[in-house]
Amino acid sequence: MTDLVKLEQRQSLKEKPDQSSLTFGEVFTDYMLSFEYTEGQGWHDLKIVPYAPIEISPAAQSVHYGQSVFEGLKAYKHNGEVVLFRPEENFKRINVSLERLKMPRIDEDLLLEGLKQLVDVDRDWVPEGEGQSLYIRPVVFATEGILGVAPSKNYRLLIILSPSGSYYGGDSLRPTKIYVEDEYVRAVRGGVGFAKVAGNYAASLLAQANANALGFDQVLWLDGVEQKYVEEVGSMNIFFVINGKVVTPSLNGSILPGITRKTVLALAETLGYEVEERRVSIDELFEHYEKGELEEVFGTGTAAVISPVGELQFKDKKMVINNGETGKITQALYDNYTGIQSGKLDDPHNWRLVVPHYER
Ligand code: COI
Repeated sequence: MTDLVKLEQRQSLKEKPDQSSLTFGEVFTDYMLSFEYTEGQGWHDLKIVPYAPIEISPAAQSVHYGQSVFEGLKAYKHNGEVVLFRPEENFKRINVSLERLKMPRIDEDLLLEGLKQLVDVDRDWVPEGEGQSLYIRPVVFATEGILGVAPSKNYRLLIILSPSGSYYGGDSLRPTKIYVEDEYVRAVRGGVGFAKVAGNYAASLLAQANANALGFDQVLWLDGVEQKYVEEVGSMNIFFVINGKVVTPSLNGSILPGITRKTVLALAETLGYEVEERRVSIDELFEHYEKGELEEVFGTGTAAVISPVGELQFKDKKMVINNGETGKITQALYDNYTGIQSGKLDDPHNWRLVVPHYER
């Protein structure tokens, strides 16, 4: 039998939100997982505690220097069972991110066990509606209060849970409008682009806000050296269907190795599509577009799921993809991916992990 993680009970449970109007990441459950790291002692005090504000030193390294990494995954409810989707991949990646920011690695099995027990305690919060899930956000941040620029001696991990609907609001398959960023860059090789670090997202906000002001949903980043090759979108990896082939930029050190990206590559092959990971320039995309060969564009991400792109704007040139409608291959991948996640389809790759009922 698995050891139970200590649970600090709340005085009273919170009111649950109206499931018919769930947005993304605005409501949080009753509990969160907490784990602490102290130099000399290692990780300790793994426990489930009431979701509540935390106290942190005003001089904490994470606040001043951004020593903070995070993850995103989801739990689904189907026929009364709660399942996690490929959680071990997130915990593998969190260790890659932690190492890049000189933060201490975490035991992936222990973390997964803690997550399963947390989700079990909060299982009544997992929504069941179409396109809904329990979004899971692990975050690790430096807590030592000292202003010298050096790795913190102390850290905290929290896993918080948020019953959520679609990331972009409304229908998950609403085609998005994307602005190809030609001024700012997201990452360069040798930097932190491949890691899920807080600063990558802070650095994206100005370009994102500029694009929003022009009526676009997201920014597509080009490489940080030549600003020529396509990398990723604000919160998603990017895919193109060119002459029937499913193409995505290869992981080059500055692109986030998305778990949905990896899943979609495997699914596309299973569904019989030809798949290619390679460098893709923005000029090449326009050439294919002009010849009518750029058939579909979509983004992939845990939060964004599989999100069709209806329009791409680069400087003064615009590409309208598939008449601004969701393409056939995008739809097939979306149906398969969400079908496996939610339990409506078989899971031949063993990607689903059922959350046990623990006896407390
Ligand atoms: C996710 O897809 O889980 C992400 O972390 C992207 C974004 C919401 C920051």
